[in-house]
Amino acid sequence: MTEHLTVVNHPLVQHKLTIMRDKETSTAGFRRLLKEISLLLAYEVTRELDMTTTRIETPMQPMDAPTLDGKKLALISILRAGNGLLDGILELIPAARVGFVGLYRDPETLKPVQYYCKVPDHLDERICIVVDPMLATGNSSVAAIDLLKQSGAKNLRFLCLLAAPEGVARMKEAHPDVPIVTASLDSHLNDHGYIVPGLGDAGDRMFGTK
Ligand code: URA
Repeated sequence: MTEHLTVVNHPLVQHKLTIMRDKETSTAGFRRLLKEISLLLAYEVTRELDMTTTRIETPMQPMDAPTLDGKKLALISILRAGNGLLDGILELIPAARVGFVGLYRDPETLKPVQYYCKVPDHLDERICIVVDPMLATGNSSVAAIDLLKQSGAKNLRFLCLLAAPEGVARMKEAHPDVPIVTASLDSHLNDHGYIVPGLGDAGDRMFGTK
């Protein structure tokens, strides 16, 4: 991908996102929409995957038909909210390998603290799609990508539902080689590190916790 930031302006994505932002939307509705929207965002983030051809025979004649090249993709979920994006993406890319990075945000410093990391092997040979619904300060995303690069990952993309300008700038500074795909670039972060207008706490909204 050539652009550092891609905002997916597709009408279906924007419509679903509006319902997700609405505070009256139920947990079940939020979760269903997140799954649907993640499928559409996954379509965009995989747009430029390398292709090769394979020899097949249609009922009419032999042909060299296009197929994905290289090792299976790696999806890396930043716990816990990243998991809400996994189901939809896996429906589109069922053979993908899946890894998890556990980071929580210290509420005082807003800095990420790592508590879990389990990722697929041969990351150096895979395209890694890192998923987290909210690119807020960018601290967790940068830390997760630091970790993945230490594990060998070279070809990474970042998929989120909403991005704040502060998070995009932080990612561009730390990881200019990692393209970001999102449904919206929102206005700013508030004093607590929440995206405005945003949708609140994505983890709480998808899991019904408060
Ligand atoms: N994480 C969230 O869940 N929401 C925000 O607005 C920012 C970070």
